[in-house]
Amino acid sequence: MNYLFINCSKNKNGVTSELGKTVLKGMKSDKLHLADYSIKQIDQEHDKRTDQFKEVFAQFKEADVILIGTPVYWSSMTGYLKTFIDRFTDVIDENVEGKEVYLIVQGTAPEDAIPFIEHVIKHVCHRFNMKYKGFVQNKEAAKRLNKIL
Ligand SMILES: Cc1cc2nc3c(=O)[nH]c(=O)nc-3n(C[C@H](O)[C@H](O)[C@H](O)COP(=O)(O)O)c2cc1C
Repeated sequence: MNYLFINCSKNKNGVTSELGKTVLKGMKSDKLHLADYSIKQIDQEHDKRTDQFKEVFAQFKEADVILIGTPVYWSSMTGYLKTFIDRFTDVIDENVEGKEVYLIVQGTAPEDAIPFIEHVIKHVCHRFNMKYKGFVQNKEAAKRLNKIL
């Protein structure tokens, strides 16, 4: 199984990143920080040389299990993640069927945002026939998921 952690925080060594490490501890896995990539807003990717969506999507396609981690920004997912999801419109006919998707959502008071963020991820999984497997909000849940994986 190929495991991929996609950190959608602006911080490469923040809480989201730490939870991702905990979930995947002891496992061979890949990690990418969306903050390292220049992914343009949908329909603003005029300069194909600098837009890196396809590069990130190629790594997504390689994985069997994908762990998406986002902090809450203004009661929602981060813009990094939303832009990435919007750009899936460009690859609507790609086959990513059967991939397992887990979610990390955390913040200072994230409860209002979690159902919405989970709803969006479920929607994307449903559209692309991927399997949404659940979410982690804190260290304890991350340790539990590590044992399951
Ligand atoms: C722009 C911005 C907006 C934020 N808005 C919220 C919010 O609405 N609700 C919340 O619970 N936390 C909010 N936070 C706090 C972060 O979610 C929190 O500090 C989180 O642990 C950061 O994760 P990180 O260390 O992986 O970057 C916000 C942080 C930033 C930078």
